[in-house]
Amino acid sequence: MEPPLALLAELTHRCPLQCPYCSNPVRLSGASGELTTAEWQEVLTQAAAIGTLQVHFSGGEPTARQDLPHLVRHAVTVGLYTNLITSAVLLDQKRVDVLAEAGLDHVQISFQDIDDVNGDIVAGMAGAQKRKRDAAAMIRRAGLPLTVNLVVHRQNLGNLAAMIEMAAGLGAARIEVAHVQYYGWALANRDALLPSRAQLDRATEEVETARARLAGAVVIDYVVPDYYAKLPKSCMGGWGRRFLTVTPAGLVLPCHAAESLPGFDFPSVRTGSLADAWQASDAFNRFRGTDWMPAPCSGCDRRELDWGGCRCQAFALTGDAAATDPACGLSPDHALLDLAVQDARAEPPPFIYRRIGALPVG
Ligand code: SF4
Ligand code: FES
Repeated sequence: MEPPLALLAELTHRCPLQCPYCSNPVRLSGASGELTTAEWQEVLTQAAAIGTLQVHFSGGEPTARQDLPHLVRHAVTVGLYTNLITSAVLLDQKRVDVLAEAGLDHVQISFQDIDDVNGDIVAGMAGAQKRKRDAAAMIRRAGLPLTVNLVVHRQNLGNLAAMIEMAAGLGAARIEVAHVQYYGWALANRDALLPSRAQLDRATEEVETARARLAGAVVIDYVVPDYYAKLPKSCMGGWGRRFLTVTPAGLVLPCHAAESLPGFDFPSVRTGSLADAWQASDAFNRFRGTDWMPAPCSGCDRRELDWGGCRCQAFALTGDAAATDPACGLSPDHALLDLAVQDARAEPPPFIYRRIGALPVG
C-alpha cells in the first residue's frame, strides 16, 4: 500500500463566511470539540512518519485558529510541504508575515465573484471581497506563492473572464476554476447554484481563451462539472489511495465529505494512530481498490483510472455509496443528473447560508 500523498487538516469548522456551497458537513462541529495544538502536532508528526508529503491546512477557516503558525512550524519541522487554504478575510500583514516566517510554503485564496456586491452576497459577509483582495497583496509582499480558487456556479459564471483577469492581476501563479461540487451544504443549494449547459459552454470557451492569453505566466486548472460530464472524475484519486482528512474533532476520513455516508465508524486520532486508520480501518478499506465495485465498473477498462467516481456523490444521488457514480454515462442512475439539470432552468431559489448550529432542512 502506498503512503498518502497529502493530509487535509480541517483545523476548525468555524468560519466568518457562510458560503452556500460549502463542502463541510451540514452538522458542523463547534470550537469545544476541536483537537488541541498538541493533538494536531501529533497528527502532523504521525502523518510525516507514514510517508505523507503535504499538509493542506483547511477548515472552515483555518486562520480562525490562533495556533496556526505553531502548526505550520511543526509541519515544516517534520518535513511536510505546507499549504494554507483560506478565505483570507481574517489575515493582516503581521499574521501573513508570521506564517511566512514559520515556513509556510504556499497559500490558496478562494474568491466568490469579481465585484464587491456579488462577492459579499455569496460569502454572506460584508466587506469580504475587499479583504480578500488586500490579503492577496499581503501574501505576495511576503513572497509567498499564491493560487486563486474561483468557485463558479450559475450566479457568477457570466463574470468568469473578468474573475480570471482579477486573479492574474493579484499575482496568482495558478488559478483554479472550480465548479461547485454538490456535497454538504452545496447539495442543499443545488437548484440555486447549478449552471445551465449554455453557461457552461461559454465558460469553457472563456477558460481556453484565457489559457492562451496567459500561457507561460499563469496555469489555469479547469474541470467540467460532474453534472455535465460523460465520465466521472477520479474523486480523491481513488478512495484511500492518495488523501486522508482529519476533521476538527479528530476523525480520520478518506475524503472531506465522507461523514455524509451512513454505516461508517470512522477512526479517531484520539483513540488510534494515523497508520492504523490508513492501513487497517474498515473506513479506508471499504472502497479501496476495485474488489468492491458493482457492474458496470467491475468490468470496465476505466476502473483503475477513475476508481468508479465519487462515493459521496453516489450516495447523495442514489442512497447507495457503493453504486457507480451517476456522473458516469454508463451508470444506470445517470438520468438523475439530467433531472437535476432540468431543474436548473427554473428561477433559482434563495441561498441557504452555512452556519454552525443551522441545518438546511428540518
Ligand atoms: Fe468509471 Fe465505473 Fe463509469 Fe467505468 S463504469 S467509466 S469505472 S464509473
Ligand atoms: Fe467523498 Fe468524492 S467527495 S468520495
